[in-house]
Amino acid sequence: MQIGNDITHAAQLIQSGELVAFPTETVYGLGADALNPSAVAKIFEAKERPAFDPLIVHVAHLNQTKSLCRQWDERIRLLAEHFWPGPLTIVVEKNERVPDIVTSGLNTVGIRMPDHPLALQLIAEAKTPIAAPSANKFGRISPTKAWHVANQLTEVPYIIDGGQTTVGIESSVIRLHEDGFVMLRPGAISSDQIREVIPESKMSDEEHKLHSPGLIKSHYSPQKPLFIGEIDLKETDLSNAGLIAWGQPEYASKFSKVEYLSVDQRMEEAAINLFSALHNMESSDVEFIVADPVPEEGIGIAIMDRMRKAAYRYRNT
Ligand code: TXA
Ligand code: MG
Repeated sequence: MQIGNDITHAAQLIQSGELVAFPTETVYGLGADALNPSAVAKIFEAKERPAFDPLIVHVAHLNQTKSLCRQWDERIRLLAEHFWPGPLTIVVEKNERVPDIVTSGLNTVGIRMPDHPLALQLIAEAKTPIAAPSANKFGRISPTKAWHVANQLTEVPYIIDGGQTTVGIESSVIRLHEDGFVMLRPGAISSDQIREVIPESKMSDEEHKLHSPGLIKSHYSPQKPLFIGEIDLKETDLSNAGLIAWGQPEYASKFSKVEYLSVDQRMEEAAINLFSALHNMESSDVEFIVADPVPEEGIGIAIMDRMRKAAYRYRNT
């Protein structure tokens, strides 16, 4: 494995059907030529990802988006004008150019234009849309730094190092329907912001849950127990415990290791630091982790979504 910033070399690897990990503004992606099914198969293998979980296709131009859609929809142009490049994935009906392995057999594809110069340069030089999930093993913590990728995916031929990502949490995923959109995964762009551009769908919760097979309850998990603010601090031995803190709580001094999401409680800063805090705890010698909940407003909704999924498998244990 190599880590560097040789985009031309990375683009050649993509063109020859190999994998390249690259930075976006949200998290690092594990990319392959989206139009080459055997290259895309390597993503599922490297991540140990189940075949039912569809991938997002990354583009550098609106024309590339057009080339993947069954039918052009002017709402995509509107959304692109407002939010692209940026952390918004738009799920629309696909055409036959998009291999089934990319979409897990669905007739829809998720598309986004990442807001990162190295990602855009890679897509442009490779001259093909790039399918990429987050560059972590399935179910584990998403990467916001190159070493997070290198730790989990040792077989990837090349990692483009773009430093720390600037949003820190995966893109918002919306599905377009005839009567509007539904939010499938919360991220930095809120439903309110999208509603200012296009109407929301009247589809029921039950109906729209059927549309995102990859959204499972347990995800983003550290390899040691994580509890969200539910530990009795007086009764528990914290000498081998880590705290992921919101603000600067006085009980932080009781823990053997502390990761501060944002000492002055700035939500965007907390989003940037969340996955890094989890990675640092995972690779430290603490035995378990306690995380302070953050207020569920703005990107705080996405932070709590990721935290609950990261803690899910440790509930009641
Ligand atoms: O910010 C991000 O979105 C990052 C960077 C690398 O772009 N990517 C990312 O990919 O988070 P991934 O694979 O970890 O999550 C993609 C999720 C899927 O699990 C699924 O829930 C949803 O996006 N998705 C993708 N295609 C879909 C489709 N056709 N229909 C419904 N949901 C889809
Ligand atoms: Mg992921």
